[in-house]
Amino acid sequence: MGPRILVTGALGQIGTELVGALEEKHGQGSVIATDVRDAPGCRILDVMDADGMLALVSEEKVTEIYHLAALLSATGERNPELCWKINVEGLENVISAARANGCRVFAPSSIAVFGPDCPSIAPQVTPLNPTTVYGKTKVVCEQLAMTSGVDMRGLRYPGLISYKAPAGGGTTDYAVEIFHAALSEGHYTCFVREDTRLPMMYMDDAIRATLELMEISSDTLGGARGGYNIAGCSFTAGELVDSIQRHLPEFTCTYEPDIRQKYADSWPNDIEDDVARAEWGWAPEFDLDGMVDAMFAGLQA
Ligand SMILES: NC(=O)c1ccc[n+]([C@@H]2O[C@H](COP(=O)([O-])OP(=O)(O)OC[C@H]3O[C@@H](n4cnc5c(N)ncnc54)[C@H](O)[C@@H]3O)[C@@H](O)[C@H]2O)c1
Repeated sequence: MGPRILVTGALGQIGTELVGALEEKHGQGSVIATDVRDAPGCRILDVMDADGMLALVSEEKVTEIYHLAALLSATGERNPELCWKINVEGLENVISAARANGCRVFAPSSIAVFGPDCPSIAPQVTPLNPTTVYGKTKVVCEQLAMTSGVDMRGLRYPGLISYKAPAGGGTTDYAVEIFHAALSEGHYTCFVREDTRLPMMYMDDAIRATLELMEISSDTLGGARGGYNIAGCSFTAGELVDSIQRHLPEFTCTYEPDIRQKYADSWPNDIEDDVARAEWGWAPEFDLDGMVDAMFAGLQA
């Protein structure tokens, strides 16, 4: 028997692609996609509903939970209490249901765990002093992976770039929105400065990293299991514009930084992913130009 998989927050930017990848790997019917929003093929499950979560996991004999439901950085900072509730209490409900049913859990972390005291190229092990509530919830998430008694794993995803679903209210959303604006308007007004360099990753790399991490035997995963650093490509907003102009030479971008500049400035420029490479063979496939080419190919198809 293959795994029986529950995905929370399945209608978001990652879930939209992860559900299909899991079905491809484990078979149609192996995945129960859930979200607080309604959509065909997706069951309603609010991660704050502990009883509903426990009942679903028990009744469906779930063996693995991919817990994607969360409020992201920009949305979370506008509503910090709700961000803490959904991100921390929601995860606690997942852990309770997993513990009662012997499930393994994938719970993503983020580069938002790092704070201004982190070196500009973030090592795996460094003090985690985030300035955002969102980042703090992700630090708690990583700590629970080590102490919950459940087989929990996580990745510190960089900003994820994809074309199948809109970005979900994070600080790195400009790197997704810019493609849509480039194609429809020929112009984008970017909410961070031109020289803002952040760690980013094309969605295909992120999905592959997720599947690879969940394949590894628990014994071989060390102290980074709650949140492995994984690097994709790191670039400035200006470098992204240059790469887009290879496809659309007339494209223009202006810069009007807003509050999200502050969050971006508190995060590292790049990621050191030596531990993930050594422990489970992580290696990215998409650099900046490769990612931009794939985005244009996807959006124009
Ligand atoms: N996308 C990125 O760039 C990125 C980067 C780092 C980490 N992450 C993490 O990956 C995970 C998924 O991110 P995403 O980009 O897909 O987010 P998203 O915002 O696109 O999707 C989140 C989904 O969760 C759902 N949701 C919200 N509240 C819920 C609730 N109470 N119960 C059930 N569902 C609820 C939303 O309807 C949405 O479909 C999150 O933990 C996020 O912090 C994402």
